[in-house]
Amino acid sequence: MKIKFEEKYIADDSAIVIGLPENIKELKNFDELDTLLNGLTEEIISANVLSDTFGKVTTTGVTIQRQYRKVIAVGLGDSSELTALKVQKAVGKLFQFMDGEKDSQAQFILDTFAFEPKEVADAIGMMSAVSNHVLMGYDTADKKQFRDELDVTLITKEDVKAGYDHGAALGNIILARDFATMPPNLLYPESFADEVAVQFKERPYIKGEVKDFDTLVQEGFGLLAAVGKASVRKPRLVTIEYKHPDARDDAPIALVGKGITYDSGGYSLKTRTGMRSMKYDMSGAANVVGMMDAISKLELPVHVVAVLALAENMVDGNGMRPDDVYQSLSGKTVEVSNTDAEGRLVLADAVYYASTTYNPKIMMDFATLTGAVIQAIGTDRTGVFTNQGRKFINNLLISSKVTGEDIWHLPISELEDDRVKQSDIADLINADFKPGGASFAAAFINQFTEETPWVHFDIAGTSNTSSTTPFAKKGSTGVMIRTIVDLIESGTLYE
Ligand code: BES
Ligand code: MN
Ligand code: ZN
Repeated sequence: MKIKFEEKYIADDSAIVIGLPENIKELKNFDELDTLLNGLTEEIISANVLSDTFGKVTTTGVTIQRQYRKVIAVGLGDSSELTALKVQKAVGKLFQFMDGEKDSQAQFILDTFAFEPKEVADAIGMMSAVSNHVLMGYDTADKKQFRDELDVTLITKEDVKAGYDHGAALGNIILARDFATMPPNLLYPESFADEVAVQFKERPYIKGEVKDFDTLVQEGFGLLAAVGKASVRKPRLVTIEYKHPDARDDAPIALVGKGITYDSGGYSLKTRTGMRSMKYDMSGAANVVGMMDAISKLELPVHVVAVLALAENMVDGNGMRPDDVYQSLSGKTVEVSNTDAEGRLVLADAVYYASTTYNPKIMMDFATLTGAVIQAIGTDRTGVFTNQGRKFINNLLISSKVTGEDIWHLPISELEDDRVKQSDIADLINADFKPGGASFAAAFINQFTEETPWVHFDIAGTSNTSSTTPFAKKGSTGVMIRTIVDLIESGTLYE
């Protein structure tokens, strides 16, 4: 995408893109806009040529200096009700419309959006990347990413470059989406680890480490090794550490991701319909990579470590059986009652490793963990669990409102702590066959948090979507990247 910043409209071939709030006359640069539209602004709107209904994109033509110019408008509704999120949605709809019409050259008249120009530029930086993105290179058609064709000029007297750059850094959540969408024959633990290394190579303040299968076995990652051993593509544990020199606190934030590059279920095999789309079972790890990417691109003054537990859950003569018992990194033993409850096993070793190695102030894990969370709260909310009181997630709830990524606080208590211990043979059991499966899984992971303040995100319902939103075409969503980055940027994480 080409981006330019200008103070005034320049007569050329590009489309004129405007926001249309109700009460357009109250805009501070109404006269300028009206001159551009030949004094016809009010007429165009009252004739319903252009709509001010929120999120509706309409188009018309004007003649400027005897040349036809296309005008594309997005309705903004009542401008007093606008928020950064609503502006992002409107801008996302604009780009999706422009993609459909192949209008790649455009001048955005920023003041018409009736919102902080810097925030509008931020929305343009992010939404130009995310709204039309598709994973490329896997079909034989010679398609191009719409973003790459875009030639956009932002017209405003204010300095909005920093806002645009901020949005563009977040727009890179498409990186996480691409990882999640990649087919599982091409993205497996080793190749995923390699790709991550490529991404963060030469990034400032970043260190990384990859533990291979032999190392994991040797160091006692018994659960991660058990889950991954049936695959010819053996498991990996990846750590990425980002430490900004101005990080105000030594104890890091730990972000842990479930990275099952394919979940066949193992011997507790999934059905043919249930198995479909299990390439997305590494979305937690992918989204943690996306968070690290944004945090480091924005050079946030924090200390963060990411731990990715990567494995492929397959079937093999050497595969994990229902009834097997394995010893975890923590020393606790686990009876495997169901090999399809593999996410909690790999996370158990990963959260224990993160807690004991880095002694984090707060640990958050992200996992496509249970079908049960979908049963409980549907596909538009992420289930959130914590070993702390409700107050602990207050600021998280605020950030989730800012980004529009809905979350719902679900319980774990002594009830589940008791359930996870109901093995006749080992310390813990990885699944029972009772209702409340999302809470059971969360409580299981909590057995390995070593009392680190911890929040668990079950993104099974939200990691990918079958419908298009202003933020993404259908497929992987990169859910929680924007929320966690907002939480870290807000500086309220430790409050
Ligand atoms: N990866 C699945 C969870 C999942 C299900 C994610 C549907 C996205 C959509 C997880 O590993 C799993 O198989 N969980 C089992 C646990 C059960 C065997 C206790 C489940 O939810 O059915
Ligand atoms: Mn599974
Ligand atoms: Zn899984």
